[in-house]
Amino acid sequence: MPRPLIAGNWKMNGLKGTVAEFARMMEGYDRTMKARVDLLICPPATLLATLPVVALGSRIAIGAQDCHAKASGAHTGDISAEMIADTGATAVIVGHSERRADHGETDATVRAKAEAARRAGLIAIVCVGETEAERRAGLELDVVRTQLAGSIPDNATGAELVVAYEPVWAIGTGLIPTMDDIAVMHATIRAELVARFGAEGESMRLLYGGSVKPDNAVAILGVPNVDGALVGGASLQAATFLDIARAYC
Ligand code: PGA
Repeated sequence: MPRPLIAGNWKMNGLKGTVAEFARMMEGYDRTMKARVDLLICPPATLLATLPVVALGSRIAIGAQDCHAKASGAHTGDISAEMIADTGATAVIVGHSERRADHGETDATVRAKAEAARRAGLIAIVCVGETEAERRAGLELDVVRTQLAGSIPDNATGAELVVAYEPVWAIGTGLIPTMDDIAVMHATIRAELVARFGAEGESMRLLYGGSVKPDNAVAILGVPNVDGALVGGASLQAATFLDIARAYC
């Protein structure tokens, strides 16, 4: 079993004052939790230079929410994987459905970003997931298989690649799939990864994301092939974020 990971995606939330909330997470991440579960916080880019310094010694890892595929150049407003690594951050989310929708990111874009993450020595969290219409049409497994094939670089390893299954319709809505639906999807993702990457595919962590809260965490995190969660709204408060991680304690 891969070591579980609870990752928080702060999205476009967080000002300087939010560092105090992060400090509460550090305080609450006690020895029992450290023994059982990894924590990662992905703040907005404006806090990327600050949080890795604050987090030193706490074992909470810091990651970015996106990166450009190139290492440097004329790309106004973008940041590269190398810049993210330069802050002391160790991971980056790529292909979140909000990036795919708001910025027209394709599987090829996401794959290039995941390759950039590897080039810079960062863990890439590659997000996949179907829309509500795709699920209603019974297409969810096909959609996710296609996204996996197109978004994950060749030669990916369990040490540097994490997959997050996030049904688009479950993000920020309070809706979640049934535990059976999560089990079927995660088993499918695992099978695809093992078929393509062999033993490395066994060791890749598969996160579930979409309306994960303290009151559903135990059930979701207990589903086979769910190795953790990608948490949006509930990662903004130390109490709820830690309560989700406590599902492993
Ligand atoms: P949510 O977001 O937990 O607020 O639904 C999850 C995500 O988008 O990663």
